[in-house]
Parts: sequence; C-alpha cells; structure tokens
Amino acid sequence: MSNTSSREIRLASRPKGIPTAANFKLVRTELGPLQEQEVLVRNLFMSVDPYMRGRMNDGKSYVPPFELGKPLEGGAVGEVIESRAKEFKSGDVVSSNLGWREFFVASPEALHPVNREIQPLSVYLGALGMTGMTAWAGLNLVEVKAGDVIYISGAAGAVGNVAGQLAKIRGCRVIGSAGSEEKVLFLRQECGFDIAFDYKTGPVVEQLNVEAPDGIDVYFDNVGGETLEAALSALRVHGRIIACGGISGYNEEKPRPGPSNLFNMITKRLTMKGLIVRDWLDRQREFEQEVGGYFRAGKLKNKETVAKGIDQAADAFIGLFHGQNIGKMVVKLT
Ligand SMILES: NC(=O)c1ccc[n+]([C@@H]2O[C@H](COP(=O)([O-])OP(=O)(O)OC[C@H]3O[C@@H](n4cnc5c(N)ncnc54)[C@H](OP(=O)(O)O)[C@@H]3O)[C@@H](O)[C@H]2O)c1
Repeated sequence: MSNTSSREIRLASRPKGIPTAANFKLVRTELGPLQEQEVLVRNLFMSVDPYMRGRMNDGKSYVPPFELGKPLEGGAVGEVIESRAKEFKSGDVVSSNLGWREFFVASPEALHPVNREIQPLSVYLGALGMTGMTAWAGLNLVEVKAGDVIYISGAAGAVGNVAGQLAKIRGCRVIGSAGSEEKVLFLRQECGFDIAFDYKTGPVVEQLNVEAPDGIDVYFDNVGGETLEAALSALRVHGRIIACGGISGYNEEKPRPGPSNLFNMITKRLTMKGLIVRDWLDRQREFEQEVGGYFRAGKLKNKETVAKGIDQAADAFIGLFHGQNIGKMVVKLT
C-alpha cells in the first residue's frame, strides 16, 4: 500500500501552570509502506487523562516525561487498516498507547485486541479501560466491602463515577463530591450515589460533617489538597484511604505543604495506600470479566464527554483542569 497521511499532536513546550494551546502543535506526517511484522492502525478514539500533565514536566517520575517536539502518547482504540503480521488482520479493533495521532504503524506487541461487538468502542478508554480499572483496583486495594461508607472526590470524572457505581454494587453507602450542580445531579440520578455535593459551594469539611455526621470508612482520593484534609477529619477509627490522584496540585509549580491534620493517621490508626493502576495489569482479565460483566448486564453506566477531531484534542485535555467533562473525556477521531 502507498503512504498514509496522518496528523499528530506534539509537545511544543512544557506547560507552566494550567496548559494552554501554545504548548501543543498539530503536525501532518507521512507514514511509509508497511514492513514485515508491521500493522497500520487508524485511531477511532483517543484518551486525554490528568496523569499526562505530569509527563509534560521534565524530571523523574513513575513514567518518563514526554519529549519536546515528539508526539504525545496515551490510550487509544483503533481499527487495523492493513497488516503484515499474522496476529492481526484488517478490520480488527485494537487498543494501544499510541493516541494523539490519527494513524500509526506498530508491531503486534504494541496492540491489544478488543471485542468490536461492545459499543461504543470508546468504553475501552473509560469504564472498561484504564480509568475503570483504576476504580476497580482502588476498591480492591483497601478491600471495600458491603456496609462501608465511602467518600469519593472527583466523583463525576472517569475514575470517580465508576468507583461509585462499583461501590454501590458492593453494597456500600456512597458519597461523592464534584464541581457543579449538573455533576451532582448526574451522580445522584444516573450513578446511584446516596449523597452528592458540590465542593465549590462551601468547605468540604463542613459539607462532609452535614452529609456524613457519623464519619466515613473509606476515602477514594482523586483530588488531594484541602479535600484530603477534610477526609482525614471525617474518617472513622481504622479508616482507609485510596491515594489515587491529586489533581488539585497538578498545575502548581511548587508542591504545597501536606495536610495540616495528618496526625489523624495516628490517633485514628488510619491506613493510606498508594495506587498505580499499571501494577494491576496481571489482574486485567479478572477486571475485564467482572466489570465487563456489569457493563454488558446494564448494571454499569459508561458516561463520556466526547470532543471531535484531532484538532480538538489539546482543548479536551486542557478542559480536564477546568472541569469540562462529565464521565470520561475522549476524543473521537473519525
Ligand atoms: N493512580 C493511578 O493509577 C491513576 C489512574 C488514573 C487516574 N488517576 C488519577 O485519578 C484522578 C481522576 O482521574 P480521571 O481520569 O478520572 O479524571 P477526571 O476526574 O475525569 O477529570 C478531571 C476532573 O478533575 C476535577 N478537577 C480539575 N481540577 C481540579 C482541582 N483543582 N480541584 C479539584 N478537582 C479538580 C474536574 O472535576 P470537577 O468539576 O468535579 O472539579 C475534572 O473534570 C486524577 O487525579 C488522576 O491523576 C490515577
């Protein structure tokens, strides 16, 4: 086959504070004909995720930084257009970490087959993808069980809404906070949260006191900062914290001091466990069976906010830091 023309987004400069359009560059590229053991994929959907902000900084972390002038990477679902590898044939649907581009050429090892019968295929970036698996892993990490009162911050986002729905399935009482009235209604009416409140309308510590006067057993932290501090106050003796994310600090140039009330860890004998979803990849099949089963049975909602076109991808990513998504933020590329 002849060359394929594609567009990709490269990191033009490292953001300072909240990223802006100037940090990204949309570039047209030409992909040459396939070599032996190569597969040409057209991305249908790509993911934008808060963790990518950390990779835009220079410096050491649990994943290497994105390189200036190189295409960004991230979760994507695409369709095989042409294959010179026996593992895949034209028409197969695959997930990969080669998002932020319209087409790509890869070896079969970089691709993971997915079932095209399950629709929309973007679910493999959300409830049945990395963020859904993060929610599931977080609940397993601290053994969330029936009867637990769990508070989830960032609750209307990709990880948060699935964590809440799965906690309801486990028989928990579920409390969530999010940044608008529309999100609060989504949590209550569509995700089955028992209680949801808007953290922008008053201090979280006060709202938690009202909504959970007897305290909480588990805190699923997506946000960090003041919300973590509020949860430390609200947790009961032997409470557990799932340390999943800290988006309130991702755009700060200097790290903020930690919670002023960390002494609660001692007085209440709390447990706080850090989560990196990649550590759970050996349990991916178990996740797919359990959570995929809920999705197919209609017990789990996959809520998405969909941006359209690769030229909208940078704005979709920036929108995460302005609360512009309900559920998983994805970009539809075709
Ligand atoms: N540990 C892991 O392996 C792992 C894996 C995936 C994700 N994560 C983390 O989990 C968290 C949620 O990720 P996600 O993919 O589900 O993202 P998300 O919640 O779908 O999107 C980001 C949301 O964060 C909220 N937000 C933005 N700026 C904020 C701020 N300054 N303070 C409080 N909230 C803010 C916004 O909602 P509001 O309108 O409600 O403010 C926004 O919609 C992130 O911290 C992410 O880094 C961790």
